[in-house]
Amino acid sequence: MTIKTIIEPFRIKSVEPITLTTREQRADILKDAHFNLFNISSDDVIIDLLTDSGTAAMSSAQWAAIMEGDESYAGSRSFLFFCESIRKLMPFKHIIPTHQGRAAERILAKIVAADGVRIPNNTHFDTTRANFEDQGCIADNLVIAEGLSPIHEHPFKGNMDLAALESYLAVYNEHIPFVMLTITNNAGGGQPVSMANIRAVKALCGKSGKPLFLDACRFAENAYFIKQRESGYQDKSITTIVKEMFSYADGMTMSAKKDPFGNIGGWLALNDDALAEQCRNQLVITEGFPTYGGLAGRDLAALAVGVQEAVDEDYLAYRIRTIEYLGHALQALDIPIVSPVGGHAVFVDAKAWLPHIPALEYPGQALAIALYEIGGIRSCEIGSVMFASKDENGTEVAAPMELVRLAMPRRVYTQSHVDYVIECFAELAKSKESIKGCQITWQPERLRHFTAHFLQG
Ligand code: F0G
Repeated sequence: MTIKTIIEPFRIKSVEPITLTTREQRADILKDAHFNLFNISSDDVIIDLLTDSGTAAMSSAQWAAIMEGDESYAGSRSFLFFCESIRKLMPFKHIIPTHQGRAAERILAKIVAADGVRIPNNTHFDTTRANFEDQGCIADNLVIAEGLSPIHEHPFKGNMDLAALESYLAVYNEHIPFVMLTITNNAGGGQPVSMANIRAVKALCGKSGKPLFLDACRFAENAYFIKQRESGYQDKSITTIVKEMFSYADGMTMSAKKDPFGNIGGWLALNDDALAEQCRNQLVITEGFPTYGGLAGRDLAALAVGVQEAVDEDYLAYRIRTIEYLGHALQALDIPIVSPVGGHAVFVDAKAWLPHIPALEYPGQALAIALYEIGGIRSCEIGSVMFASKDENGTEVAAPMELVRLAMPRRVYTQSHVDYVIECFAELAKSKESIKGCQITWQPERLRHFTAHFLQG
């Protein structure tokens, strides 16, 4: 007999209390926050699924490493520890620490920016796109068609559309400084990219003489999906799979706030000496000296430990199973989600679940508000509040999807926390027709989702 229950592969040594509020209190909190969950204090949140970024619980080994942090301005031994640890998985010649992923993106964008520059990716994350566009570049998404459909089952929905990339490379060749692949594809639902796809993208890059950069925040989760779903990888270790993934890359940007269990941190890594030199010049201007980037020595030490913990197979089995458990439970309640379930989050299809709310009454926001009110659960709308556009008359045009992201912080919540979230959804399902759409009563000029005011009903 084999025991099937997958347990949290850790014991809890230090705890943070959660304040339990009542539904009446939460109704008032929502009003005070103008129905925008970004305006709510974390003390008033019971389960915080806003993001998996920077929210991980560090291990005792990471806390111990923090005490060993070397805060020397130049030549810190924590930097050497950081580089050694990263190179065990990602053997890049140059490793440049940054305070988080977007700082690495900004440095790259600044260096390659020129008139007409275009950068293809399976799907650019918001900050990646914003950094390239801010420097006047054009950021294009070439994910496979299945990756744009919430219900289309595909084991690797994050894959790049190879035919589209091939013609893109032919048409825009001299305007493309490099090709990017985001693993896993966050904006597309945390969906993985297969090894075959990474290899094929690299081959196309090779043919046109372009380097390949991985945006690799969730590299370990991606490797676990390859092990589970791609033939020929079942018997390979995660470390072997990760090394193969990076053997096809010429560089990477990294937010260490995801898989490496950092509360802050990131890096840029590459092999090209001349490009690395330019990157370091940029780094010194805004981040800091090349042996600390934007980080304290103790952060570098904690990340050096965290990177290795991220490829632990028992951890990854628990991690991926947690998200799948939540996703499948929602499906059992007939709640439509982006399927198959991704690596770090469950994305609820609010447009399909709340068809009585028109897209421009923001079904995703309405659901996020209802979820907070019923159970103090904080989620994130990824729909028309975040991504609506304007037509030529200035009229708002809805985003293609109205999703609500339930992103799971790493090693923070237990199964009973997840069961609580499922029960809240089951309660909501009983009266979902009474969830009302919302209007925006005030909004800033840019990135309105962070600060807009809403009214419901
Ligand atoms: N790339 C991807 C795929 C990301 O998901 C993020 C951040 C970044 C780059 C930027 O990294 O935050 O360290 O500057 N994603 C967070 C999220 C914010 O909630 O999904 P950063």
